[in-house]
Amino acid sequence: MNPLKWWQTAVFYQIYPRSFADGNGDGIGDFKGIIEKLDYLADLGVDALWLSPHFPSPNWDCGYDISDYCNVAPEYGTLDDFKLFLDESHKRNIRVILDLVLNHTSDEHEWFVESKSSRDNPKADWYVWLDSPRFEGEGSGVRVPPNNWQSCFDGDAWTYAPERDQYYYHYFMKQQPDLNWHNPKVKEAMWDAIRFWLDLGVDGYRLDALGTIYEDPKLTPHNVPMNLAELRRFSDLAKTPKELKLKDKYWHDMFKNQWAQGGLHELMKELRAILDQYDGDRMLVGEDDNIDYMGNGEDELHLVFNFPLMQTERITPAHIRKNQTERLKQLESLHLGNKWPCNTLGNHDCSRIHTRYGDKLHDAELARLHAALALTMKGTPFLYNGEEIGMTDYLLTDISQVKDTMGSWYYHTIVTEMGVHPEEAMIRTAEMTRDKNRTPMQWSRNSNAGFSAEGVTTWLPVNPNYKDGINVKDQLQSSYSLLNYYKHLLTVRKNSPALVHGEYIPVHNAAKDYFAFLRVTEEQKVLVILNFSNERLEFDFSRVKEIKSHTLQPLFSSADHSKKEQNLKTLATNPFEVFIAEVTSVHA
Ligand code: NOJ
Repeated sequence: MNPLKWWQTAVFYQIYPRSFADGNGDGIGDFKGIIEKLDYLADLGVDALWLSPHFPSPNWDCGYDISDYCNVAPEYGTLDDFKLFLDESHKRNIRVILDLVLNHTSDEHEWFVESKSSRDNPKADWYVWLDSPRFEGEGSGVRVPPNNWQSCFDGDAWTYAPERDQYYYHYFMKQQPDLNWHNPKVKEAMWDAIRFWLDLGVDGYRLDALGTIYEDPKLTPHNVPMNLAELRRFSDLAKTPKELKLKDKYWHDMFKNQWAQGGLHELMKELRAILDQYDGDRMLVGEDDNIDYMGNGEDELHLVFNFPLMQTERITPAHIRKNQTERLKQLESLHLGNKWPCNTLGNHDCSRIHTRYGDKLHDAELARLHAALALTMKGTPFLYNGEEIGMTDYLLTDISQVKDTMGSWYYHTIVTEMGVHPEEAMIRTAEMTRDKNRTPMQWSRNSNAGFSAEGVTTWLPVNPNYKDGINVKDQLQSSYSLLNYYKHLLTVRKNSPALVHGEYIPVHNAAKDYFAFLRVTEEQKVLVILNFSNERLEFDFSRVKEIKSHTLQPLFSSADHSKKEQNLKTLATNPFEVFIAEVTSVHA
């Protein structure tokens, strides 16, 4: 077997910089704050950081609308602060990958400002511009966009610019115009920006929304009988299986011509070739679940996320098994070397794991099962800041608090255009906006959860449950806390080669209440049992061919920390227990 690359053995941790740690007391996270927490991250046991965008931005999309690709947002610090952060991370053997937003820039980026200024400026063709001479009715003066495409965030995907008497296209907000990737100059400029950070020593990139980079050149309209706001509202109210199915179909059909179009593989190859010119195994992970973007295994992205694992209401043993079978089979079909999976259960775009996969009765137990799942499945795990202390969604109650502009757009649209009562609109908005899962990290039970100093108004409200033990400091002091559980699991993983790179062999595949599997290398065999039920379960693994006539040396148990050697025939787990054991030969 080829020696493993760092990104295959690493556990990644996503930092959402605005909400991680406020070092200068302005209510917004920054590099000073992150640097102060690097020892915490080293102690937690993570090996690499994915930093959500840290570039200057007017923040229409919380940093995913970049106005300068080669600088640092002033609220986060300076370029020197970034360099210090990178250096301090590396000193602790923690790698750093950045967020790479290729599809669009901010409308305040100088490229767009120039492009918009006239039809014949040097950057006129850097964005996706189209004429639309059509009007709603003769003499009405109301213009009609080039087609009915929708932005996934704020209504029409086309915005009229009087300076050019043309429309520009935006898959996301109107403040996020799409770049024209058919223009070689755009590529050159973006590749320069990428080199800028690679030259500084960053270890790779997470590629934002890569599927949106190209559009159907024929501009084929969608055929969904509603616009974005109506579809969101339809989705909010959908209840019956028929409505739920239709909702999924509509979402797919509305955007299918704006996604995954030709040209992406060639582009990913170009990008990969740039990274490969650098030493140190720089890596790319795509915000996409399509394994095709790994190319032949060596010429496109190193990793893509296993999003299907998290696209479910509940994580059940049957769901995990099906997901793993399908995913690993697809990966096997890659021709060359790298077939490495990449698993995650949460990020800054979705409801927090603790809330989303909880059942409101056993949330704490389920959170432990989910953590164990992410850290024992085959592949590179990505954790999201705050999950290690069990941070939960925090629903805002007042529209003036909402920072995620797709949320405020939705609120105002359904109130003004659909007549939805503001109270109901606020409830829907709080649930759909991503603010709920981006609240400040909870460091202690001091005011503002120790994220900002006392008396500071934080950019998003702090979830008050930091007072109930959902904070780092309290959890560090309690040996049974979720945080210490994560730390323990991370250590077990690090010390067990089979958990890092062993083959995955599911066992007892018909079991409804538990998920059991082996991870196997030449040197080690590990059995993992995740008891998803509220019952004590007894097992007999003695007939599993890979391990029969063996015995079990416990490596980890979420229930009984003193477990001694176990017999395959008479094994038992407590309700919701996570049990991990090395399989050793009886006479070893
Ligand atoms: C995906 C990012 O994760 C999300 O936060 C952002 O809004 C969109 N891409 C647009 O960049």
